[in-house]
Amino acid sequence: MKNSVISTLLALVWISVADPTSRPLERDGLATPRRVMSRESRSSHVIPMRKHLVSSSALHPAVLRRTTTPVNLKNMYDVYYSIDIQVGNQTVSVSVDTGSSDTWMVQDPYECVSFWFDPRNPDGTRDCGLGTGFNGSLSGGIVPGLPPFYRAYVDGTFVRGFYGVDDVTIGGITARGQRLALVNLTYWYGDGQTSGLLGMAYPYLTSLDGAEQNQPPYDPVFTTMWKSGAIDPVFSIALSRNEDQGGGGSGLQKESYLALGGLPPVEIDESTWASTAIHGMNSVPQWGFETDERGMYIIKPEAFVLEKGGSGPDAGEEILKNTTQIPILIDVGATLSYLPKGLVNQLYAAFDPPAQYLSSRGLFYALCNSTVPRFGVQIGASTFYMAPEDLLRQTARDPTGEWCRVGVTDTDSPPHVLGVSFLTNVVAVFDVGKSEMRFAAREHY
Ligand SMILES: *[C@@H]1O[C@H](CO)[C@@H](O)[C@H](O)[C@H]1NC(C)=O
Ligand SMILES: *[C@@H]1O[C@H](CO)[C@@H](O)[C@H](O)[C@H]1NC(C)=O
Ligand SMILES: *[C@@H]1O[C@H](CO)[C@@H](O)[C@H](O)[C@H]1NC(C)=O
Ligand SMILES: *[C@@H]1O[C@H](CO)[C@@H](O)[C@H](O)[C@H]1NC(C)=O
Ligand SMILES: *[C@@H]1O[C@H](CO)[C@@H](O)[C@H](O)[C@H]1NC(C)=O
Repeated sequence: MKNSVISTLLALVWISVADPTSRPLERDGLATPRRVMSRESRSSHVIPMRKHLVSSSALHPAVLRRTTTPVNLKNMYDVYYSIDIQVGNQTVSVSVDTGSSDTWMVQDPYECVSFWFDPRNPDGTRDCGLGTGFNGSLSGGIVPGLPPFYRAYVDGTFVRGFYGVDDVTIGGITARGQRLALVNLTYWYGDGQTSGLLGMAYPYLTSLDGAEQNQPPYDPVFTTMWKSGAIDPVFSIALSRNEDQGGGGSGLQKESYLALGGLPPVEIDESTWASTAIHGMNSVPQWGFETDERGMYIIKPEAFVLEKGGSGPDAGEEILKNTTQIPILIDVGATLSYLPKGLVNQLYAAFDPPAQYLSSRGLFYALCNSTVPRFGVQIGASTFYMAPEDLLRQTARDPTGEWCRVGVTDTDSPPHVLGVSFLTNVVAVFDVGKSEMRFAAREHY
């Protein structure tokens, strides 16, 4: 979630934690269908997702400055995935978020405001880094009688606008008469490649709108699609880890996919399929919700496993296995994964040499050539290990170039999150119909 939901929830529950953030993602996949899935079928509505890397120098200085605060760094917004959607007869590029439910885009002309002094733009004008906005009005008009659309995200960004109605088409499936928001006032920092956000979470979150946060919920795009009968109530995501090397039609490009109604066309290890329930909003006690209604993709993994890395005689030896089940959000909108401090400290210590906190970055880094431990999340009977490339991202270096960012960071404040650094290792199936998530390990990957 870019934070979205989290931000909404933070606003609800913890008010006032200032931190920058954002999220990340990465992925990778082979577009070589190999065999038919035994458990479920490939979707015929597959949408390739573009992977974006935002260099930290593109981030607003205020954001960088805030990331140096030692506490509550929630996210690094440097990796995200986007798709094109059709709204009416216009094509709009949006980033995909499983941690929020609204779909919005900017409408031209919109106002970009800055809350912080930006030395690069001393006269106060600035570019929010959003792409071309929606031109004109939505064909279904404005929804009358609603308060303005407003979302504030944990990283300090916000969007404000109004709700309208139009047909939204993704991968050949159309959500007719879909409610969505046009934004005309925002503080944002993007890379200019997207103009909005596609929220893939449940209707419940849309009710947390407005000052009272008790608006009647509405059906988000994905809900409208499956309720129409056009697809089964399931979608899945495969994120590529590496950049598309421009395989020139070799069929072996690393792709990321959003698949509506079924599975994406990537190879998986079928022996690793695992399923686990999606829990309601009251599963995170700190949020204070009484309802067990589902709002986000919250699961409770069976265990976290840490093992020695390297190729020595003790490689693979178990350092710890923690079977305390905690609620965790599955969030394509988060670059890193956010897990409990005690666990993450042990992970940092298991790097050789150990990872260190870089106060200039506000996160833990390890020497890029250090030995990376094995770290896995057990779901059902399967343990999904994070690849060394995800645990220590060679492309996210400090200015000396010697330290690489660890893909897991700690937080003792919920929500805990499995973000892109986890999701690049699996295919994740979001089965709203069965209220469960399924995962399988990627193959040849
Ligand atoms: C917006 O649409 C109008 C009318 O369809 C067209 O004249 C105008 O050039 C469009 N603007 C942009 C920026 O595409
Ligand atoms: C696109 O849709 C709008 C609103 O329905 C309409 O006014 C406009 O003529 C359409 N433009 C094209 C090129 O079809
Ligand atoms: C945004 O749109 C709303 C609703 O049409 C309008 O009241 C408001 O003045 C607009 N704000 C800006 C900055 O254009
Ligand atoms: C296991 O994890 C839980 C939740 O993070 C923590 O409270 C507990 O102390 C951990 N147990 C061990 C033995 O580390
Ligand atoms: C690892 O990198 C550090 C800093 O770049 C360097 O000083 C050290 O010699 C390297 N260690 C090995 C084993 O290559």
